[in-house]
Amino acid sequence: MSNPTKNPQWAAVDKYATSHTHPASRPNTKALQDAHDQSLAAGLPDIAASPPQAKFLALWCRILGVTHALELGTLGGYTAIWLASENPQLHVTTVELDPHHVAVARRNIEAAGLTGRIEVIEGEGLAVVRRLREEVLRGERERFGFSFIDADKENNWNYFDLAVDMSTPKAAVCVDNVVRGGRVADEANTDPRIQGTREVIEKAGKDPRVDSVVIQTVGEKGYDGWLWAVLKEKRE
Ligand code: DHB
Ligand code: MG
Repeated sequence: MSNPTKNPQWAAVDKYATSHTHPASRPNTKALQDAHDQSLAAGLPDIAASPPQAKFLALWCRILGVTHALELGTLGGYTAIWLASENPQLHVTTVELDPHHVAVARRNIEAAGLTGRIEVIEGEGLAVVRRLREEVLRGERERFGFSFIDADKENNWNYFDLAVDMSTPKAAVCVDNVVRGGRVADEANTDPRIQGTREVIEKAGKDPRVDSVVIQTVGEKGYDGWLWAVLKEKRE
């Protein structure tokens, strides 16, 4: 689905600023551009995070010293490559339903030299995430210091709830695409993706485990936004 509020000026600012904040001389610039280009050439939709947004997520991982991150919705691996390539300490576990997306992502990750630090799990999101949670609770898998939820929006709350359960104390959880050109504020909107997004915002707001905020964004991907939540209780 295209964003109804694209604006060439927002895209121009992203392009200008990124050329200075993340120039071609950076070690990961080429790998990221290749992953982007290969994903589009393989027919994947052009809906990966933008360079500044993906870098922002990677810098959060750095600030938080995250060693294990979870991503739901791998697409072609673009965001996962940003997270891992900006953070040498970081292992990324990323979940994707579509086998073609998985194949493209694995190729891109291999080309970026990050196969050892990015685990791509193919499968239906909820089933996989429930299994990951069991593994975490049994102590067979590390808790996640950062989770990025960017999959089927109808399940936003289920993913969020499970991600919080598998998080380290003081972890951050970010949900993508929560503004959607402003449609999130339309109570009468019957699109299940918008309803799933309203559900996660409303339930996160009442969730005693987190403090949360919605940040609206503009850029090359149009007008959208993120829900950010930070765990507030220490476990155990
Ligand atoms: C769509 C999905 C996304 O995760 C995104 O960032 C932008 C668009 C979509 O399904 O249209
Ligand atoms: Mg998204």
